[in-house]
Amino acid sequence: MSRKPFIAGNWKMNMTAASGKKLIEELKPLVKNANCDVALCVPAILIPEMVKAAKGSNIKIGAENIHWAPSGAFTGEISAEMLKEYGVEYAIIGHSERRQYFGETDETVNKRLHAALNAGITPIVCVGETLSERENGTTNEVLDRQLSVGLAGVEDIKKIVIAYEPVWAIGTGKTATDEQAQETIAHIRKKIGELFCPNCAQKVIIQYGGSMNAKNCKGLMAQPDIDGGLIGGASLKIDFATIVNFDK
Ligand code: PGA
Repeated sequence: MSRKPFIAGNWKMNMTAASGKKLIEELKPLVKNANCDVALCVPAILIPEMVKAAKGSNIKIGAENIHWAPSGAFTGEISAEMLKEYGVEYAIIGHSERRQYFGETDETVNKRLHAALNAGITPIVCVGETLSERENGTTNEVLDRQLSVGLAGVEDIKKIVIAYEPVWAIGTGKTATDEQAQETIAHIRKKIGELFCPNCAQKVIIQYGGSMNAKNCKGLMAQPDIDGGLIGGASLKIDFATIVNFDK
């Protein structure tokens, strides 16, 4: 496979500088021979300390959000330049929790991802359907909208990572089956092919996210279109190393 797998953690609003540093120190020797790219997306205030803790290792540090403006009157927000200054390489954009609780829309996702790209930060763009959308058969329609609006104006689609996260699987312990995740991610790849070009779509990294853990990671990662994982709960523990080493 020409796509290098990519396992990223999403700490959400968890950990402190002390507990985060301790976990990174424990993870470093365990993930050092990984055959995939490895990142931890952490709360903004922890970024400087976690970048220091991960220094010299193969663990990259990412942010959980990014504002679209370069600077200005946006109280509480953080710009791409500020993140870049501390060595941030990835940023999660449009996580379903941001869509659900903080008014994120496909349009703001699009603005944020362009700010990330302009700063040389790789956006991890989250898409996914809710339980009712899956049950009423509109999953593909929802994903198509999230992708066509969210990715508008992107010149080099290979610079974007997509995370398919069915909302009903996030933090619920309910994982999509290997087949469900494969089928939906194959649809996402096909749609990216239509929106950009079929050849480029083959090069885009698409992760699965939603209750992925040390037990179910092997089956998910064995699917032809699943290139990695965005890991919430299990990235707060040493289990993250087992997921990173899914192929061993
Ligand atoms: P989870 O979260 O692994 O705890 O389900 C995944 C995510 O929200 O990115």
